[in-house]
Amino acid sequence: MKERTFVALKPDAVRRKLIGKIIERFENKGLEIIAMKMVKLDREMAEKYYEEHKGKEFYERLINFMTSGRIVVMVIEGENAISVVRKMIGKTNPAEAEPGTIRGDFALTTPDNVIHASDSKESAEREIKLFFKEDEIFSE
Ligand code: CMP
Repeated sequence: MKERTFVALKPDAVRRKLIGKIIERFENKGLEIIAMKMVKLDREMAEKYYEEHKGKEFYERLINFMTSGRIVVMVIEGENAISVVRKMIGKTNPAEAEPGTIRGDFALTTPDNVIHASDSKESAEREIKLFFKEDEIFSE
């Protein structure tokens, strides 16, 4: 089934100039980037984005990190895009992420684990809506 998922390249990915290397993997896989922009999150937007983690031990560190620099957000479309992209990014803790996955190859610690991708259809819809208007998304 053709799906849309939301992906964010985190401030560490932008600072380390990994945007091209990461996007290349999705395009090589046959997935399509149908929306993309660079934004700097303010605290309010970061809190909305990560509302499900409010109260967790790492929440403050996560919000501080996510507001520390620019991020690149995108909508990716393709067959089973949600699970395929999650597989490609690897486990949340980069120390456990398999080599060959994005976190496995480019990250070592959290919260600076390079990339975020939606974990379900519901979070994909919510996250896409948070960052993109319908007319900013291009789909045939
Ligand atoms: P992400 O996939 O964006 O979803 C939530 C984020 O919280 C996660 O990636 C990490 O950046 C961060 N995170 C998750 N667990 C921890 C942790 N134990 N310590 C610090 N940051 C974490």
